[in-house]
Amino acid sequence: MSLDVLSETRDNRLFRESCFVGGKWVPASGDDRIAVTNPANGETLGHVPRLGTDETRRAIESAAEAWPAWRKLTAEARGAILYRWHELMLAHEDTLATIMTLEQGKPHAESAGEIRYAASFLKWFAEEARRAYGRTIPPAAAGQHIVVLRQPIGVAAAITPWNFPSSMITRKAGAALAAGCPMVVKPASATPFSALALAVLADEAGVPAGVFNVVTGSAREIASEMTSNPLVRKVSFTGSTEVGSALMRDSAANVQKVSLELGGNAPFIVFDDADLDAAVDGAIAAKFRNTGQTCVCVNRFYVHEAVHDTFVEKLRHRVEALRLGDGLDPETDVTPLIDSAAADKVLSHVEDATSRGATLVSGGRRHDRGENYVLPTLLTGIRHSMRVAQEETFGPLVAISTFHDEQEAIKLANDTPFGLAAYFYSENVHRVWRVAEGIEAGMIGINAGLISNAAAPFGGVKASGLGREGATEGLDEYLETKYLLMG
Ligand code: SIN
Repeated sequence: MSLDVLSETRDNRLFRESCFVGGKWVPASGDDRIAVTNPANGETLGHVPRLGTDETRRAIESAAEAWPAWRKLTAEARGAILYRWHELMLAHEDTLATIMTLEQGKPHAESAGEIRYAASFLKWFAEEARRAYGRTIPPAAAGQHIVVLRQPIGVAAAITPWNFPSSMITRKAGAALAAGCPMVVKPASATPFSALALAVLADEAGVPAGVFNVVTGSAREIASEMTSNPLVRKVSFTGSTEVGSALMRDSAANVQKVSLELGGNAPFIVFDDADLDAAVDGAIAAKFRNTGQTCVCVNRFYVHEAVHDTFVEKLRHRVEALRLGDGLDPETDVTPLIDSAAADKVLSHVEDATSRGATLVSGGRRHDRGENYVLPTLLTGIRHSMRVAQEETFGPLVAISTFHDEQEAIKLANDTPFGLAAYFYSENVHRVWRVAEGIEAGMIGINAGLISNAAAPFGGVKASGLGREGATEGLDEYLETKYLLMG
């Protein structure tokens, strides 16, 4: 089934097996290429070039050459190009979603949702480009003027993950281009085709040569050139805390500005005054989006002891009703994980928890469709020391603990090095404020399980990262402040 869809997609000019550098398509040289497989069935979808240091340097140099003309355009003109790119994404939503499902695995409807989400960043930043305001400040001495300018920082480099193959690119590139910066993107090797399809549309939308470049290949070589090349003034990364902190170390030599969107360990607290049906809806959305492979997915559920059994029973029904299958099948809610190692990790968390006293309520094993498929799983009786409470599972596993009072819930929620997202359900407005202020996280869903939105600042605290994406803050990441004193 998937190969048929692929051959339709392959005829389409959006499916490219070459990189995009300086406005030109760069094929693999000889056999130096990376195979991309479909996580649903292991079939090879195609290949992309394995580029390294030299090609990355060339991409950075093309970006640097394109920068003066791009920054000189008015914000409105840059915004118009971004807006066209957004329109083209929407016009090709179905093809882009098919490419995404084939390489990433997520249900086609979710891929289509991600394409709209990705396009929304281009639209947001197309509009926001015109609001890169500076300011004037009352001077310290008579006759002087203090003026603050906001100027594009320069060439930006982005390293993006496989779990959101399009939106993590447009969230960075939309902001960079709006601010007047060119960008070189290195997409994850598991999902390069979505990135290359974006490059086709960027080109069609009128993004000038060199302003948006996509290089695929060796993560180590590409990242090392990005962090060591003095032409690069900004590095933006979405991925693991381990890699993010290594990039931060490497970029220190050139004092590059860094944005990092890293791992999470999101708590989801259900208080005894919560609307339990709403909490169950929120739990399904916040846990099973992208089959649990989302940095903001819930990792730890804390349910007040008075409502625990009712909540678990309601949630069990919903978890057991989730349909596991190939993302191209419209009757699918959850899909294979990106690879077998990801499935092994989920099952190792189940094994660790059950061997230490947790109760397996549903799932807890692979499905016979293949090694990447893990059944939606529900565990209760989780203790804080278990691996599932300490590490990001990144899979379809609900792990539930109980708590006794509000202070304990906040303490448990904060007892982690991470602080990306958190969620809680309560109908008590006083509690809502206390808990929202007490939880250490960059983003909090209050009686809401989906928090992502182009207009809102996305990012974490503690080991979950630095900087924000989307919103006004997202544009700031690509701007420098320059102060002028006029005597
Ligand atoms: C992520 O998992 O890193 C991104 C999720 C989102 O933007 O909602």
